Amino acid sequence: MSQPRQILVTSALPYANGAIHLGHLLEYLQTDIWVRFQKMRGHECHYVCADDTHGTPIMLRAEKEGITPEQLIARVQGEHQRDFAGFHIEFDNYHSTNAEENRQLACEVYRRLCAQGLIEARSIEQYYDPAKAMFLPDRFIKGECPKCHAKDQYGDNCEACGASYAPTDLIDPYSAISGAAPVRKESVHYFFKLSDSRCQAFLRQWTRGELSAIPPLQTEAANKMDEWLSGDLSDWDISRDAPYFGFEIPDAPGKYFYVWLDAPIGYMGSFKNLCDRTGLDFDAFWRADAEPELYHFIGKDILYFHALFWPAMLQYAGLRTPTQVFAHGFLTVNGEKMSKSRGTFITAESYLQQGLNPEWLRYYYACKLNGSMEDADLNLEDFVLRVNSDLVGKYINIASRTAGFISKRFEGRILGVECYSPAENHLQDTLLAQSAVIADHYESRDYSKAMREVMHLADLVNEYVAAQAPWTLAKDPVNDQQLHRVCSASLRWFAVLTLYLKPVLPQLAQRVESELFGLTQGLLWQDVAHLPLTKIHPYQHLLTRVDPKQIEALVEANRQDLQPAAAQPHSQVRHSQHQQHAGVVTASLLQEETPYLSIDDFNKVDLRIAKIVDAEHVEGADKLLRLTLDVGEAQTRNVFAGIKSAYPPGQLVGRLTVMVANLAPRQMKFGLSEGMVLAASDPDGKSPGLFLLSPDAGAQPGMKVK
Ligand code: MSP
Ligand code: ZN
Repeated sequence: MSQPRQILVTSALPYANGAIHLGHLLEYLQTDIWVRFQKMRGHECHYVCADDTHGTPIMLRAEKEGITPEQLIARVQGEHQRDFAGFHIEFDNYHSTNAEENRQLACEVYRRLCAQGLIEARSIEQYYDPAKAMFLPDRFIKGECPKCHAKDQYGDNCEACGASYAPTDLIDPYSAISGAAPVRKESVHYFFKLSDSRCQAFLRQWTRGELSAIPPLQTEAANKMDEWLSGDLSDWDISRDAPYFGFEIPDAPGKYFYVWLDAPIGYMGSFKNLCDRTGLDFDAFWRADAEPELYHFIGKDILYFHALFWPAMLQYAGLRTPTQVFAHGFLTVNGEKMSKSRGTFITAESYLQQGLNPEWLRYYYACKLNGSMEDADLNLEDFVLRVNSDLVGKYINIASRTAGFISKRFEGRILGVECYSPAENHLQDTLLAQSAVIADHYESRDYSKAMREVMHLADLVNEYVAAQAPWTLAKDPVNDQQLHRVCSASLRWFAVLTLYLKPVLPQLAQRVESELFGLTQGLLWQDVAHLPLTKIHPYQHLLTRVDPKQIEALVEANRQDLQPAAAQPHSQVRHSQHQQHAGVVTASLLQEETPYLSIDDFNKVDLRIAKIVDAEHVEGADKLLRLTLDVGEAQTRNVFAGIKSAYPPGQLVGRLTVMVANLAPRQMKFGLSEGMVLAASDPDGKSPGLFLLSPDAGAQPGMKVK
């Protein structure tokens, strides 16, 4: 491989006054996957982040809680780090913007901008809350919309008619903090002179990619910037008056840096902290002619700060500019903005508390992320289907169908690739050939394509396993050699797929490496062609399916009733009465109408293992699939099953299930149905989904189920 690259990566610094939610995670997981991929490629990659701790909202929030801002940000940082760790997001350093490194760097950048003649002090008039004795940020001023006259609108735009205006345009303004009528008051503010012709010229060139080999912005982002840069840029107000939680500006008592000045410098502060701890060379990464690469992952809402203010600050402070800024879209849930009343404003903490596996979400997001600025939708039904059918049904299935034979029949030994048949060599080549393609998709952050490739390969391996039918080979010792080879090859391919999925599923991959294959060292990307596999330990269950009930519980746990508090107890009582009532009805039904079944009665039901040899849609039927089943008889059976909503036919072919073989044949509009397959579902129909039963590995078509 060529020289290892030196790469510094950041995610946006989350505000220290709120919990991490699934929207945030879209960004942190996108970044973590990319960083893990770079590390697997053998590059030197550092991933830093921090809590963004300054500003008025945090100051007021602490006041409301009766604690100091320092206490608030310490507590929230602990919560954030716990949540990130829970989703296997692995920073090389997680710091705070309220740290000494950051203060020094912010002051230094500011001094250099002053030296360039780019900072100007000007007196401006602003709203001031006389009761609270502080200047009011726009969002803390409310009043009547000057356009549509809606009451209680914010100081910058109207939620009723969408108009935007200056807070001074509001009719009858009042302070959202004290309710007092604000007065206008003069104060000196410091401005970063973006209107300076040097800055404007630099930003036009930088955003268009004229100053670097690789354009620093995605096309969509560059177009957006072109719009913003088409007019003249205004100067940027970088100071706030006391009281403010932040860094005091050098030689300007009572004046503080606006939070957005020291926030991006927080990327440097966190990295400085890492360098001081580990001996890395800070300047090598940040001086104007620095060779290492620098990437910022951000949401599209903060593009302006990262593509205008930040590069201009860096440039005129004599520092390097970002190699690339990667902006992503927003997360929607079930096609809509996350909503507290719908229960779709889901916190990271609640997801973990409800016992959902973080790797399910990592995989689902990977399927949704394509490196663009489009919004990504978390569709909760699709989430269940995708995880269950891809991860469990395709990927894990390979190991669960083959590992048992290796353990039980061959003392856990895996054969080497030298014994492969031509067909196996061909499949092996196909899998390895995709290594470069999949790597390219990761590199360009098109994880959805990477996941599609991997699942396509998993399909090929599953087809091979189904065709070789190790469970049939296992019946006759004459086939031992072939059985050994088929299962060895399948497990090696499972290891290849595991490697390809490792940036997305780090914990699962680690378990496969150590628990299944007994490896003491984690695999790197380049190991794929020579996997050091010789044995397995007995197969342990690797991944469970998502139960739709878990999703329901998650949404319920996040639902915040927006009705007045007094109405709640009432509705809760009604709810529990309703449940009790339902419970009684069920119990009485059981007693009166369904007595116990005798074993003889049960034995009348002929349950058999069936192999689905074909599955297809039925014309004109909404719910049905036509299944062709092998139940170990001379002829296959034809069964119509109402499982169309839960399974695409292609996914069923080759799998085993359980059927009732002695049900009276029934003539249907579409043909004769000669039995019934068994599936689980929620009797109340509350949690959607149908789950076809399957036997453990080794069962054969026609076996009786007792
Ligand atoms: N503190 C600033 C960033 C300072 S960076 C120098 C901030 N914090 S934030 O907590 O509001 O957001 C952190 C990141 O999460 C941002 O990149 C933001 O775009 C992203 N997201 C927050 N909500 C999101 C969604 N619903 N969907 C996707 N990303 C979202 O902004
Ligand atoms: Zn309005």
